[in-house]
Parts: sequence; C-alpha cells; structure tokens
Amino acid sequence: IDRPLVAPSLLSADFARLLEDVRDVEAKGADWLHWDVMDGHFVPNLTFGPPVVKALRRHTDLFFDVHLMVEAPQRLLEAFRDVGADAFTLHIEADPHAHRAIKAAQSMGMKAGISLNPSTPCEAIRPLLHEVDLVLVMSVNPGFGGQAFIPWVKDKVARIRKMLVELGRPHVPISVDGGINAETGREVVEAGATVLVAGTYVFGAKDRGEPIAALKSIPLP
Ligand code: DX5
Ligand code: ZN
Repeated sequence: IDRPLVAPSLLSADFARLLEDVRDVEAKGADWLHWDVMDGHFVPNLTFGPPVVKALRRHTDLFFDVHLMVEAPQRLLEAFRDVGADAFTLHIEADPHAHRAIKAAQSMGMKAGISLNPSTPCEAIRPLLHEVDLVLVMSVNPGFGGQAFIPWVKDKVARIRKMLVELGRPHVPISVDGGINAETGREVVEAGATVLVAGTYVFGAKDRGEPIAALKSIPLP
C-alpha cells in the first residue's frame, strides 16, 4: 500500500452513539479502528475495556488496533484476544518484561506493538524492534484527546525508522498518536510514519470523510 493508513481514535467518538460513529468512519474509508484503553493509573483517565470491544466486534471487520494505556498490560492479553483484538500495543513504561508480553501476544495470534511516551528515549525500545509488528509513537502525553502535537517527536519517528531500516525491518509500521491533522500528519509521514491515529481531527469534523481522505492523500516519502 502506497499511502499512510488512517486509524480514527474512538476516544473522540460519541460514546452514546459508538456503533453509528464506527459505521460512519468505516463507510468513509477508515483503515483501522484505534481503541484507547485507559486504567486511571498509567494515565489519569478511564475509558473502556474488553466488553465494549466485544460489543462492536460483531458489527465490523475493521482491524482493531488496541492501545493499552494501563499498568501491567500483560494481564489483559487473553481478555483482548478473546474479544477479537487484532493488534495489542503496550507501553514500554508499563511493563519491565515487555518482551515477554510481545511474544505472548504474537503466540495468541495478535499483532504486537510497543508504544513510548514523548519523554521516553528511543533507545528504550531498540531491543524490541527485532520482534515487534508495530511501533506506536506518542506525540502527546497520553490520557486525553485534543492535545497539541509535540513537534520534536518528529525526530523520534525518524530515529526509529532509521533503526528499523538498519535492522532489516523497514516494513514495520510506525504509527503516530496525538494531535494529528493534515499538517502534522504530513510532517510525521515525512519522518517515516506509516499509520496516522487521529481522534479530534476525524470525529470533530462534520463530514468525517474529509479528514480521512486528507490523511490518506499524504504522499509517502
Ligand atoms: C491519547 C490517545 C490518543 C487520542 C488522540 O492518550 O492515545 O489516541 O485519542 O486524540 P487526538 O487525535 O485528539 O490528539
Ligand atoms: Zn491512542
């Protein structure tokens, strides 16, 4: 595929109309659905867990990209596998045995992703780049939608892309999450991102097809 993938973040959807919002972004060209799971500990906010994912799984075949902003995410591997998560992405800051969790997710048939907060150095995930299926780079401090994109995160994206190329794994997707719109999306794609997570930009639009199309039309370098 010769364009970035677009993953609308359901954190910014209307939770009272979740199914309608999912159907809407699916019809308007979303590639993935991004699920922000929060536990009130790793991040100050609370969202949803496996029962909500399960309820929506019956209504769509979209790729479910589950972003775990929780402490000890490995406890939730089976629960998310059982409800049909396609990708299980944990934070390096949340699990000192992230490698074990990544291998476990893969052995359960899920894609395994590693995420890092803005202030976590790229070196922290370097050993895992040999094994992960996805890297999720945070461009805001996680916990809330609608925050401003942190511009120096672009350098981290470029660094991680370079590391992946050097390891002979240039195909591994790099997803960027937080403050993404047409402009910041273009900047991170230039730096090496291939998946754009967008909450406010997509769900805040009257016609969600416009932001989705704008992000999909960004040329890959
Ligand atoms: C932040 C979440 C993001 C969030 C992005 O903690 O991980 O996925 O929904 O929202 P926007 O696009 O509004 O910054
Ligand atoms: Zn997210």
